[in-house]
Amino acid sequence: MKTKIKPFKKKIAILISGVGTNMEAIIKDSKTIRYPGIVKFVLSNNPNALGIIKAKNHGIKTFVFPIDKNHNKEIFEKKLLNLLIKEKIELICLAGFMKILSKNFIKNYKGIILNIHPSILPSIKGLHTHKRILEKKIKTHGATVHIVNSELDSGKILGQVTINISKEDTPKTLAKKLINKEHKLYTKVIRNVLIGKNTIIQENYPVISKPEKK
Ligand code: GAR
Repeated sequence: MKTKIKPFKKKIAILISGVGTNMEAIIKDSKTIRYPGIVKFVLSNNPNALGIIKAKNHGIKTFVFPIDKNHNKEIFEKKLLNLLIKEKIELICLAGFMKILSKNFIKNYKGIILNIHPSILPSIKGLHTHKRILEKKIKTHGATVHIVNSELDSGKILGQVTINISKEDTPKTLAKKLINKEHKLYTKVIRNVLIGKNTIIQENYPVISKPEKK
């Protein structure tokens, strides 16, 4: 009798704080045939995060561990760590997670925490990237997926996407232009990480076509 060997799927946790469109893109991708991973849970620090409802609608287990004056980050990280161990998580994806994890916490999961950041790193780390890029009067914006290390928005870059900025753009239009490209980039990078592929993804919009060979 033939024994069927079930493919090994890496266990993923997604951390969010808000709308969760990147999270939803990852979940949708994870449900495609032969996907090399499985999303075990979605966790938010924000009880009002819309992403929690979305994750539930996709049948994903959710947790909310608030961080506020009464619930400090140490407690949050302790609870998160217990959960990660319990669920045997092998990859953590920050998807619009707006809290900074402590160096101590990151040490536990060195190299396997990913983040998506809405700028072409190392340029414009931190918050309000769409507003700040417009202030710089630069013509190109974008997003970066990187490994999380102990410095803010500074770990190894695994993929970047660029878009053009037009004169009419506002922080709102830039965010809108970028978000779908973020989903595409993040899901591609996660697939690479899950299968141990080492290539750095670079995507540019509009797509620059190569000159035709004569
Ligand atoms: C995304 O644009 C993501 O790049 C950004 O927050 C947004 C979350 O949207 N992340 C950061 O700014 C992290 N520093 P989403 O909740 O719809 O995925």
